[in-house]
Amino acid sequence: MILDLNINGIPLTLTASPGDSLLRILRAQGYFGVKHGCESGECGACTVVLDGKPVNACVYLAAQAQGHRIQTIEEVGQHPEQGWKVTTGLHPLQSAFVESGAIQCGYCTPAMILAARELLDREPNPSEAAVRETLSGVLCRCTGYLKPVQAVLRAAAALRGEAVEPIDAPIPAPPEWLPDEGDKPSPRGEEIHPSTFIPHPLLATTLVMPRIQVTPETETWQRVGKPEIKVDAVKLAQGKPAFAADFEKRGLLVAKVLHSPIAHAHIKHINASRARELPGVAAVLTWQDIPRVIYSTAGQSDPIPGPLDSFSLDKKVRYVGDRVAFVAAETEEIAQQALELIEVEYEPVPAIFDPAQAMQPGAQRLHDEPEYVNFAESDPTRNLAAHIRIDIGDVERGFAEADTIFEDEYEVSKVQQAHIEPHVVITYWDEDDRLVIRTSTQVPFHVRRQLAPVLGLPIKRIRVIKPRIGGGFGGKQEVMIEDVAAHLTIATGRPVIFEYSREEEFTAARSRHPMRIIMKTGVKKDGTITANAMYALSDTGAYGCHALTVTGNTGHKSMALYVGDGPYRKAPNIRFYADVVYTNHPPAGAYRGYGVPQGYWPVERHMEKIARQLGLDPLEFRLKNALRAGELHPFSTAWSEGREPRPETIETCGLEECVRQGSVATGWDEKFGNPGWHQVPGKPHLRRGIGMAMVMQGTAIPYLDMGGASVKMNDDGSFNLLVGATDLGTGSDTVLAQMAAEVLGVAVNDILVYSSDTDFTPFDKGAYASSTTYISGTAVVRACEQAAERIRLRAARLLNEQDSPVKVVPHEIRLIDRKAVAPDGRAVSMAEIGHHALHHAEQEQIMGVGSYVSPVAPPPFAAQFSEVTVDIETGQVVVDKLVMGVDSGVIVNPITASGQIEGGMTQALGYAVCEEMRYDEQGRSRERNLRDYHIFQAHEMPELITIFVETFEPSHPFGVKAVAEIPMDGVAPAVGNAVLDACGIQIDDIPITPEKVWRALRDKS
Ligand code: FES
Ligand code: FES
Repeated sequence: MILDLNINGIPLTLTASPGDSLLRILRAQGYFGVKHGCESGECGACTVVLDGKPVNACVYLAAQAQGHRIQTIEEVGQHPEQGWKVTTGLHPLQSAFVESGAIQCGYCTPAMILAARELLDREPNPSEAAVRETLSGVLCRCTGYLKPVQAVLRAAAALRGEAVEPIDAPIPAPPEWLPDEGDKPSPRGEEIHPSTFIPHPLLATTLVMPRIQVTPETETWQRVGKPEIKVDAVKLAQGKPAFAADFEKRGLLVAKVLHSPIAHAHIKHINASRARELPGVAAVLTWQDIPRVIYSTAGQSDPIPGPLDSFSLDKKVRYVGDRVAFVAAETEEIAQQALELIEVEYEPVPAIFDPAQAMQPGAQRLHDEPEYVNFAESDPTRNLAAHIRIDIGDVERGFAEADTIFEDEYEVSKVQQAHIEPHVVITYWDEDDRLVIRTSTQVPFHVRRQLAPVLGLPIKRIRVIKPRIGGGFGGKQEVMIEDVAAHLTIATGRPVIFEYSREEEFTAARSRHPMRIIMKTGVKKDGTITANAMYALSDTGAYGCHALTVTGNTGHKSMALYVGDGPYRKAPNIRFYADVVYTNHPPAGAYRGYGVPQGYWPVERHMEKIARQLGLDPLEFRLKNALRAGELHPFSTAWSEGREPRPETIETCGLEECVRQGSVATGWDEKFGNPGWHQVPGKPHLRRGIGMAMVMQGTAIPYLDMGGASVKMNDDGSFNLLVGATDLGTGSDTVLAQMAAEVLGVAVNDILVYSSDTDFTPFDKGAYASSTTYISGTAVVRACEQAAERIRLRAARLLNEQDSPVKVVPHEIRLIDRKAVAPDGRAVSMAEIGHHALHHAEQEQIMGVGSYVSPVAPPPFAAQFSEVTVDIETGQVVVDKLVMGVDSGVIVNPITASGQIEGGMTQALGYAVCEEMRYDEQGRSRERNLRDYHIFQAHEMPELITIFVETFEPSHPFGVKAVAEIPMDGVAPAVGNAVLDACGIQIDDIPITPEKVWRALRDKS
């Protein structure tokens, strides 16, 4: 059919099918600011404005848009500097999103800006509740919504002509931090009721800086430690075509995968001939058509610390959603039709869903393929993907010396990363017959290395390009989709796009490992822990990707925190045993926190029970037994992911100060143990509770993961910084640019960051294990120091050519304010140096290259606090406030770092109270969309407070430790402990649903 559309004021006549969505048509016309996040109107990423009203373009037919005015992000504003052309610049909303740190991955940003603009057009002075309500139609998995709300409030104020605080205006330092705003008028003058359910009290001001206790080492720095604007924010605010799917290629085929409807079966017979004959089908591949190469889909450094147990296509299926065939066709509809024409005869074998049963002798075996390659103690004959036995000290003697033994069982659920950008890849042959893989991945170099044998290509004939990524959270640390498109490009010779639907994200992507965990702890009457033991039974699903390392982390990071006191502190008794078991569930894999949240739910619930049963203060009991600076990381002598362990001393630990600051910010002393505070006046059915948890994580993987960087100077004094590190929206490109700018003495916008492309950027292991700022950051510093040395030499030469009796020595030159400054104050600009080096005497390309592998993995520490209100009639739990005191070393960028904490706490809150992937008795997913699988929306959020307690980690040039994963660890147990505090019930398995709370209350009464 012929359609006449008006897009951004431009009339357009085009041909479309009656069933074409507005989303598809707009993207086909190059309006890539309209994003795909689902197919059913749940995520809001596809928001456009139709006759002034926001609509979801994925559920709106293009035909319905005829005669209406369509507006997309592309017409909202533009870069303010476009050469000689005078532009209107960015819209105030775009500017506010850019400045406020409201953009992380940026995938939801165009939709948020469009929705907010419509609000501000009709209501110039909106309440915070109205802003949250407006943004509630757009799901964001990165930010926790605080900064987007602040951005809209700032833009509203600016549009009204009011002054807003400068972006770096600090939140007042102690003692003014004390306010518990729950009982006070809000900054916007509205009455706040802490027990209000929905909408929540006002939570945001227009102040965007977090609270931060700065370490003195940073005081003279110009770029590190400052709230610099994210280097990619301006393009993301404009919805520029920055993501993997925002790409046009002539002759692009669409790939689809036929997924198994059966949990466990042999493929007895498969016939794709009818599908191949369908007009418009370019290729259909089954296991008979491609080489049988075993590999692991876990994107990890070599050697992969896990079994090799996967094929691109196999003659056996092991879960509902497993791959059966690949199709490439001219359109998505034809590809879908072709899937339906593939005839498959399955020979079912018994499926097994309970990990305890799966490891019993005689249980149905999942992996009996002869090609299977063991790693460490994996044993496919017992359905064991991994097996961990770690004993530190003498645990049995520790138990014998205890006055009381506490033992309990806990359970953690399977949850989804739920990044808003689905997995997506485009593959094509370039003009040199090299295979280009443009993919939304966290691990481009691992993709290249791991896929080469699978595709039958040498590494040098594969180029992996990682554009902007719309969130990953570990879900994209998996080489999971690239082979599909690549096999089809090899088969057809044509470019292929393969993008997961939202349903596929739930049925055929990865998730967090669910576990059953037993804790056993020996304690003396005075609260000294004498021995601590954990056993974890982990369900890895059908494949063992990340099986060993995720579950290893469960004990390694959580059981290391409590070493005991007195003599036990010097010689702790700790045991961690785990079995990681194959079942016919969809595979688990990497998810932000990487096994550690699974550990802290039992550890911190257990510590709370012990403290309460012994009548000890929960904070003092924990701190008495917690690891301290100067002590050995207890696991460093015993375990290293299947490699040789090497002892490591904890150099910095701000845990005690995190606890102090967090308890001040929550008013812990006034609330904990105060019966009056637990009651809600006038609401006898409500109870308030307060809880906390202490946590530690790790920073990078020592002696294994390497980061690289190179930098080159241009003739205007700017620099190209090339990094293999992978910014998923975390802001890593920005913090790397800040470190480069600090070393080179220039502005952050003089550093042009490019990440990553396996042809051009140095190797980097990728974005995982909280390592980019630490590992890749050190590589950047090394590269920039090399360049800086050349700059100083040339500056000295230029200065010594001046008519001055004072001779300048290169190492005395400071690089600052875009200049090389001699001790006597004379200076040459960076532009002069760059120009001179490239064009005048003794020309050279000033550049540097650096790489880094760390010998240590310094842990960040944190204290997580939570306040809840429980309805004791319905079991509903509302989390009112989350406060986190965090020691992540030096904070390179307070705004991006606090955005990480807010977003992480929000994901962890879903883990605590509502997110869960469940299966029926046939192994079929119950949750297949973002309606059934609920992630938090803007109007449902509690108050989020981040407090950074800086320490200076001596193993890094700028003293940093990791920040990205630690917010995942403590929220669930802090909420569980707050529920206990509110109404005296023990919930030992997450999520803490109203039904579980109601049942526990009923059983108690
Ligand atoms: S893509 Fe339209 S709502 Fe998700
Ligand atoms: S910034 Fe919102 S989804 Fe990533």
